Amino acid sequence: MGIVGLGNVGGGTLTILAENSEEIARKLGFRLQVAAVCSRTAKEKQLPAGIAPALITTDWREVVAHPEVDVVAELVGGTGVAKEVVEGAIAAGKSVVTANKELIALEGVNIWRQAQAKGVTLAMEASVCGGIPIHAVLREGIAGDRIETVFGILNGTSNYILTEIEQNGTAFDAVLAEAQRLGYAEADPTADIGGFDARSKLALLASLAFGVRLTPAEIYTEGIQRVSPTDFAYARQLGCTIKLLCAARRVEGGLFVSVRPALLPVSTIMASVHGAYNAVWCRGAFGADTFYYGRGAGPTPTGVAVVSDLMRVAREIRPEPAHRVPPFAHTELPDASPLPIGDQKRPWYLRFRITDRPGIIRDLSSILAGHGISIDAVLQLPDQDKHNLPFVITLENSLESSVRSAVEKMAALEFMVEPPLAMPIERGV
Ligand SMILES: NC(=O)c1ccc[n+]([C@@H]2O[C@H](COP(=O)([O-])OP(=O)(O)OC[C@H]3O[C@@H](n4cnc5c(N)ncnc54)[C@H](OP(=O)(O)O)[C@@H]3O)[C@@H](O)[C@H]2O)c1
Repeated sequence: MGIVGLGNVGGGTLTILAENSEEIARKLGFRLQVAAVCSRTAKEKQLPAGIAPALITTDWREVVAHPEVDVVAELVGGTGVAKEVVEGAIAAGKSVVTANKELIALEGVNIWRQAQAKGVTLAMEASVCGGIPIHAVLREGIAGDRIETVFGILNGTSNYILTEIEQNGTAFDAVLAEAQRLGYAEADPTADIGGFDARSKLALLASLAFGVRLTPAEIYTEGIQRVSPTDFAYARQLGCTIKLLCAARRVEGGLFVSVRPALLPVSTIMASVHGAYNAVWCRGAFGADTFYYGRGAGPTPTGVAVVSDLMRVAREIRPEPAHRVPPFAHTELPDASPLPIGDQKRPWYLRFRITDRPGIIRDLSSILAGHGISIDAVLQLPDQDKHNLPFVITLENSLESSVRSAVEKMAALEFMVEPPLAMPIERGV
């Protein structure tokens, strides 16, 4: 395959192809080979170890024409050169993987027709919500449903800005300037804060969800520029927050589609999508609600989408049934032999019920210390029954086998009303 564009997404794609090559081969049953790479400054780029293409060029035409390239990944962006790359690849009988929402939202249907005419494949998972596999969900995962509504938070920059305004009460202009300084917003932020990036993505999602052709310009669009800390203060009084909400609703007679700031009840799952994260919520006539959440951008989250598309296309262009997607995702499944659960380290919550008397904490601490376990905190609610007194000890990161053995010892203490309840604290969930 050939990669055109070695920036954020191209770089992330090559990193994954290099560092995850074994796992990818185990899933495919064959290896993906990068035969050619291209960017304006390709010859100056440091490629990841293990990526050694036969061709490194500044001219995309050479990639498209290369005999060892049967799939071209267009990771340039925009609608100029990128369009030439995509159409040039298809004309040369090569399949295309692209991350380009702008091009696909504008020209996707024409490009797909060209691909059909040439008998090649077009894959574009990375074009909407980088790290969320929402194309696969709409194309396959819930294809059996009839989608009624799609809601999305599809632009990480504007969601980051709104989250900052909400959490710190800072005015829009100051948050935008800070986001630009940190590299979260572009020097020209119009596409993000004006809602235009989000509307390209919504146009694509609506096509996938409802099977219609929709150009971005047909979508009612408002940006977030006028949303202020005052609006968040009032929204809070209404039990709501404010998000740049992309909405597509099927009603009798057609579709309502819009991108604009909207109030959402804080109790909804969408309201808890903060910072640069993206989310898509679908309601189907039969399957009801499903929700998808993840990183909307970034070199490796978007790179995963590109690599997964490359894998799918590499399978599709091989005629042998042996290369269909295996039902267990991998071509072979060696025994997992799970590790003993006791070898895990976690923080823990221990809840006791005791008959109160002096020295209880001392007795428990000495058992924990004897097992090499450190206490994080001791918690007790006031005004409890002294003959059946609940209290909690939380533990720092501790070996599960040690915690279990300590708990067993504690259960035998004469002041225990019942054996302690031990639960791990999973902070990363
Ligand atoms: N960034 C994300 O997180 C993200 C997420 C989802 C989708 N996308 C989409 O992915 C695509 C790429 O975005 P990106 O952020 O990776 O952009 P980027 O960092 O600006 O990279 C663009 C790459 O294209 C190369 N390029 C530009 N003009 C070229 C030409 N005429 N011939 C050959 N190469 C050329 C550049 O070359 P040089 O490096 O030599 O200058 C650069 O390597 C866009 O369609 C974007 O919308 C991006």
